[in-house]
Amino acid sequence: MTDHTESTSTTYAPPEEFAAHANVTAAEYERADEDRLGFWADKARSLLDWETDFTETLDWTNPPFARWFSDGRLNVAANCLDRHVEAGNGDRIAIHFEGEPGDSRGITYAELTAEVKKAANALISLGVSQGDRVAIYMPMIPETVIAMLACARLGAPHSVVFGGFSSDALHSRILDAEARVVITADGGFRRGKPSSLKPAVDAAIEKGGTPVEHVVVVERTGQDVEWFDDRDVAWADLMGEQPDEHTAEAFEAENPLYVLYTSGTTGKPKGILHTSGGYLTQATYSVFATFDLKPEKDVFWCTADVGWVTGHTFIVYGPLSAGATQVIYEGTPDTPDTGRWWDIVQKYGVTILYTAPTAIRTCMKWGDEIPGQYDLSSLRLLGTVGEPINPEAWTWYRSVIGKDRCPVVDTWWQTETGAHMIAPMPGAMATKPGSSQRPLPGISVKVVDDEGNPLKNDEPGLLVIDEPWPAMLRGVYGDPERYKDTYWSRFEGIYFAGDGAKYDEDGDIWFLGRVDDVMNVSGHRLSTTEIESSLVAHDIVAEAAVVGAADATSGQAVVAFAILRGGVERTDDMEETLRAHVGSDIGPIAKPKRVHIVDELPKTRSGKIVRRLLKDLAEDKGVGDSSTLADASVMDVISKQVQGS
Ligand code: PRX
Repeated sequence: MTDHTESTSTTYAPPEEFAAHANVTAAEYERADEDRLGFWADKARSLLDWETDFTETLDWTNPPFARWFSDGRLNVAANCLDRHVEAGNGDRIAIHFEGEPGDSRGITYAELTAEVKKAANALISLGVSQGDRVAIYMPMIPETVIAMLACARLGAPHSVVFGGFSSDALHSRILDAEARVVITADGGFRRGKPSSLKPAVDAAIEKGGTPVEHVVVVERTGQDVEWFDDRDVAWADLMGEQPDEHTAEAFEAENPLYVLYTSGTTGKPKGILHTSGGYLTQATYSVFATFDLKPEKDVFWCTADVGWVTGHTFIVYGPLSAGATQVIYEGTPDTPDTGRWWDIVQKYGVTILYTAPTAIRTCMKWGDEIPGQYDLSSLRLLGTVGEPINPEAWTWYRSVIGKDRCPVVDTWWQTETGAHMIAPMPGAMATKPGSSQRPLPGISVKVVDDEGNPLKNDEPGLLVIDEPWPAMLRGVYGDPERYKDTYWSRFEGIYFAGDGAKYDEDGDIWFLGRVDDVMNVSGHRLSTTEIESSLVAHDIVAEAAVVGAADATSGQAVVAFAILRGGVERTDDMEETLRAHVGSDIGPIAKPKRVHIVDELPKTRSGKIVRRLLKDLAEDKGVGDSSTLADASVMDVISKQVQGS
């Protein structure tokens, strides 16, 4: 665990004007505390349109399998689209799309609704219906949102695979979800050039065993792609034939909405399953509460990729259900130059910006004069997510980007939690650099010790969620045992999040990083075991250990230690070969920053690798306590080899 916390008594009260008009005030906590389930039932009814109202808020008779609002019926896509058009807001911009090369498109709610209806009809023409899984492997373009909502409209769960993942990763995810249809693009624009996607889909299908019958291909970059007539169909051709009328059917609240794969402590990614009514309630509430969204006025921008949960909840479902106008940007923050983000804020008058600490630290490195060249006066709220934020980066964000006017909300949540869980309500309290502060109204969490006993001020412990919540995952796709074991077995009936945390003297929560073998690199979750398996699969590697070492920009960096197979001669290019191997096996984000070739790994008498010692070494902290090792001298040998490499 890394302790990013610093004692600080500085807090920042919201501007008076902000507090006076805030969507959430202190009274909301009292209301939720008095009747938690009643609070969520009210939110579900006031924030969403139900075709059939529910009679039971929560069914927790078979824990950990929760059912929220289960006899209610609704259509998620109609809640994100049709209802806004019916309410007279069809002309409101839903998406300001900014392509990396500089092309842009404004799409109104009426237009987006028509496109999603056409796409739903297109999927029907391919035989997709309720319950079928559709894989989506796309760049950050409006068609990605349209494809996801078309699936939601049909009650067909999507499985979005991040475009930076390799064909192998895509293959295993298509297999696990048994997707018969894949929606992709020729490629997208990144760092000033087209990067390709379709070839990875072809390679994934070629690996065999998938049930894929149709691949729908959006043309974005115009690159040449291989075409398989019996399987591939162009998005434009398919959409061109479809009527823009489609009546959304209401599904039960527990109808699966999507599966999203995330790294766990074992090599195999978990398909996190989210359902409809509870997820959409809490996603929509998060947008109104934490981001204080005023749909008629605000311009919201979440910089995440749609391939991660932040993109699912805060590009697609939350903002659209809330009727927001938002920006979607395709590319990287430094293309064509490091002012690109601030240019976008200025161009669209962004009022609420949501990004990750890594991005904030990178912008800090680029220098204050870059954002200083742009008019950022439209901003009124700043958010962060994905990893602990150090107080220095938080304070920089508030002063240089927010000009000391904008509250900063540090939002803690996970793929599994679906929506915000711990974050300050910006109009109801003073914010504090580096702390996520309080659970949202209606959410109950604790910091406990190894035995589950509640902890007090400044005692580091484990974060648990001790009451079910509407957007909670409903399971690990196809693996109920793994769901129980991973999240609910450490403490009986209580959700174990895998994060270290503590309270400060004000009762505010500080996060201390993961307590398991999950790393967090630039706000992206990676499993040490998954990268170790990839390294060992290379024919020069006999054994490998991977750690997440503290890194000033990316939070953590992947550092690997590998033992060569017998008879393999060590060469200078080996480190690069192994880095590239992991990059193509899993994806560029998983590429180790360093691979140290060593002769030994530190192991206990029972043969377990002691990663803690390797982490100390990778962080230049010297050799820590090696008394639990079978052979204590091993660390000196490794340390010399690391210094020499
Ligand atoms: O360790 C926590 C960290 O990210 C993990 C969840 O990762 P993922 O499922 O990929 O979702 C990321 C976006 C929601 C958590 O277990 N994390 C996320 N937000 C924060 C955080 N750590 C500290 N502070 C945060 N605000």
